Order: sequence, then structure tokens, then C-alpha cells
Amino acid sequence: MRNLDEHTITQAVLERFSNTPDPRLKEIIFSLVQHLHDFAREVRLTEEEWLEGIKFLTRAGHITDDKRQEFILISDTLGLSMLTVAMNNQKPDGCTEATVVGPFHVENAPHYNLGDDVGNGAIGAPCFVKGTIKGLGGEPVPGAHIEVWQSDEDGMYDVQKPDLDHSQGRGVLKADADGNYYFKSILAVAYPIPHDGPVGDMLVATKNHPWRPAHLHFMIKSPGYESLITHVFRHDDQYLDSDAVFGVRQSLITDWIQQPNGEYTLEFNFVLNPVPK
Ligand code: BEZ
Ligand code: FE
Repeated sequence: MRNLDEHTITQAVLERFSNTPDPRLKEIIFSLVQHLHDFAREVRLTEEEWLEGIKFLTRAGHITDDKRQEFILISDTLGLSMLTVAMNNQKPDGCTEATVVGPFHVENAPHYNLGDDVGNGAIGAPCFVKGTIKGLGGEPVPGAHIEVWQSDEDGMYDVQKPDLDHSQGRGVLKADADGNYYFKSILAVAYPIPHDGPVGDMLVATKNHPWRPAHLHFMIKSPGYESLITHVFRHDDQYLDSDAVFGVRQSLITDWIQQPNGEYTLEFNFVLNPVPK
């Protein structure tokens, strides 16, 4: 295998991977190599441009740690996260739609009782959240496991605050015997995704903004149903049509209503897709 040129190198690389025993891994590597090579040929990638790409990925690696995930941001802002969600979460009409998980979900969030304040000291206007968890047939899903997480009024998640030693604006709840859930928190606001790294530079270079419309994240699980990762969006947000990560679905937008006492209320009823028996 010598004297490879731009037309013969792709086949040579594919042959190098042809003994991959796992058929799915082989399929993915083959397709990735083919598309990467086709991309480089199509745009006539120069060596300087290729090096810029390597530097971009190197910066993404350097800025990533267990609190900051630049690679998820790359995937999100290129629409790859939402494409993967869309392909893998096709559900019957009537089920709540899924959207991106984002980089701010954490394992082992604190557990709360229904009615508790998951804000736990986060700054923001009070907001009472309630609704139901039902299956597609209308049956309540008693005891469903519900995780919620959100930013504070400055658009910051607890994990973005190095000096904070406890969780704020996130928690795990259990639906009651009738599938009801309710908790106190704070009003979600629009916030920019982290944009002080290479993804931010990419957004500037392409004349795009980093903002996400106000939302509250939910992850809902119960045996017998497909797990659901989604958000509820605030109806009056200016970024609903230009979400930096392409995550908005019309069915997930709901009214967040300001009550006469200044507090907000929000109701959202979730419908889970049963796992086929
Ligand atoms: C989020 O909603 O938490 C999020 C999603 C994608 C990128 C950054 C943040
Ligand atoms: Fe978020």
C-alpha cells in the first residue's frame, strides 16, 4: 500500500479497518472515514485549515473537565445532539416529545418530597410547578422518578459556580400514587450557553448568538415506560425561534403565569410512551 493519492487513500483506510470484529463499530468507522474524506475533498481542505480544526479540538479538550463539557456544546451547536434525539425518540402522537439533555445534568441530585423547594437558595422569582405523569393510554404513572434541573436568574447552573458546595435548582422527586407532581422552584430565564471557549468563538465567527430560551429540564423514568429527557419552555421567550442548540419543540412550550402576588405558576402534564410488551 504505497503511493496513495487523494482518490485511492479512502479505500486503503477502509481496508485497514476491515477486520473490526464488532459489526456496528465497523459500520460506524467505515461511514465516518468515508464522510470525512469526502468532506475534505469537497471543500479542498488546506493544511492550514486542517491545523485550525486540530487547534479547535485541542482547545475543546483543554477547557473540558467534569464540570465543563465543550464537546457536548460542539455537538449541540452543530445540531448533532438534536438530530440524534429526533432520530431516537420517535413516539406516537400524544406522547411528550424529547429534547437535548445538555451538559448540566448531574447524577445523584438531592431527593425532595413533593411540595419542597428544589431552588434550595437559588436566586430568582418564586415559581410553583405542577402537573401529572400519565401513560399514553391515560393511566397515571404512580411513583414516577422525576429529575429537574434549571439555572438561576443570572442564567447560571449550580455546577457552574465553583464556590457553591451544595445543589441548587435541581432535585429528584417521586410522583404520588395518582401520578401528580408539584414542587417550588424559581422562574427560569433565558441564558447563554458557555461561550468563553472555542464554541463561543465559532458562534462569533458565524454571526450566531449563544442564547437558549428559558426552560426547565425534566428527566422522567418509570418501569414499563420509555425514559423521557425533555424541557418545558416559557411561552414568552424571545429566543424560542433561535435556540443556540435547536432544542425547541412547539409541544413543549407552555404558559408561565405571573400571579397577583408576583409568584409564577407553571403546569405541564407529561405523557410517557409504554415500552412494547
Ligand atoms: C442546557 O439547556 O442546559 C444546555 C443545553 C445545551 C447546551 C448548553 C446548555
Ligand atoms: Fe438548560
